Amino acid sequence: MGVFQQVVRPVILGAAQSSRMRRAAEQIPVTRKVVDRFVAGETVPEAMDAVAQLRDSSRTVTIDYLGEDTTKVEDADATVRAYLDLLDALGKRGEAANTKVRPLEVSLKLSALGQALPRDGEKIALENAHTICERAKGIGAWVTVDAEDHTTTDSTLSIVRELRTEFDWLGTVLQSYLKRTPADCEEFAASGARIRLCKGAYDEPASVAYRDMDDVTDSYLRCLGVLMAGSGYPMVASHDPVIIEAVPALARETGRSVADFEYQMLYGIRDAEQRRLADEGNQMRVYVPFGNEWYGYFVRRLAERPANLTFFLRALAERKPKATPAV
Ligand code: FDA
Repeated sequence: MGVFQQVVRPVILGAAQSSRMRRAAEQIPVTRKVVDRFVAGETVPEAMDAVAQLRDSSRTVTIDYLGEDTTKVEDADATVRAYLDLLDALGKRGEAANTKVRPLEVSLKLSALGQALPRDGEKIALENAHTICERAKGIGAWVTVDAEDHTTTDSTLSIVRELRTEFDWLGTVLQSYLKRTPADCEEFAASGARIRLCKGAYDEPASVAYRDMDDVTDSYLRCLGVLMAGSGYPMVASHDPVIIEAVPALARETGRSVADFEYQMLYGIRDAEQRRLADEGNQMRVYVPFGNEWYGYFVRRLAERPANLTFFLRALAERKPKATPAV
């Protein structure tokens, strides 16, 4: 394992939890410039501009209102209102809602909807997600539930199972770095669910997760094989060329056409590759985060790839020195 994976990544991911680091990062003006590369603005109109551009280039979208680890009921309520506003704005686009693959989708973090609240957190998150699913159904959009750190997985999947009894189109994310995930893939693939498979972005202990990136990629390909062979709808969420190149053969072997699965990447990452896949007739969905709670999301992107961190550090180094104050 490289120095970046072994030493740098855990330190950066540790910073994602630090409110002191968060305040410091928010105060450096250059952070904003780098954040803009990964985040589509702070407001619904800004997110809608990004959606319009992506739709113009034949890409579908999933939109995430940034925020996580809510500790107040009022904040969870505000997140629900933000999603309802977003869905209303998406509804106004008037896109066909009866297509097999819905072009518009929102992604939710249950921790932003109250899952971690000390009293009735799981119940509150379930009710809040239900409210959002109802509105999404009304405009013909899909909803997918994000995966957070491993301590939340059981609770998240039980909420998803419950919601799927009413909204069978609800999707969820599974993370290939978790050792439990092949079994979760078997379960959800058999129930015909939409599953977004990603590698996983949190710093997890070796007791529950693979920590070597080659092991994570091997696990990804095994899990994807299970999803492709199942009766659900696999969503291949990765920028990794090794994974993307493996997909056509897997689809052929399991008798899937390009309409029966989709590729997914994050906003601002490998844009040219996203366009190539879309131009070749594949379904390519882009995860578009927006809002002002960008810190945790941004730090996870820095921890993924030395080049992302280098980009940030270079921007910091290139900062114009302040004019010397007159004395
Ligand atoms: P990885 O970062 O391991 O990169 C592998 C290779 O891809 C690199 O070596 C390089 O060759 C290439 N590459 C990557 N980025 C590149 C770039 N910018 N330019 C050129 N080449 C590049 N995680 C989570 O824990 N919970 C979640 O709910 C989600 N949700 C989610 C949704 C979607 C749509 C995506 C795409 C990802 C997530 N993730 C996530 C994040 C995910 O777990 C993971 O951290 C990142 O996608 C990074 O892993 P990759 O598989 O993309 O490859």
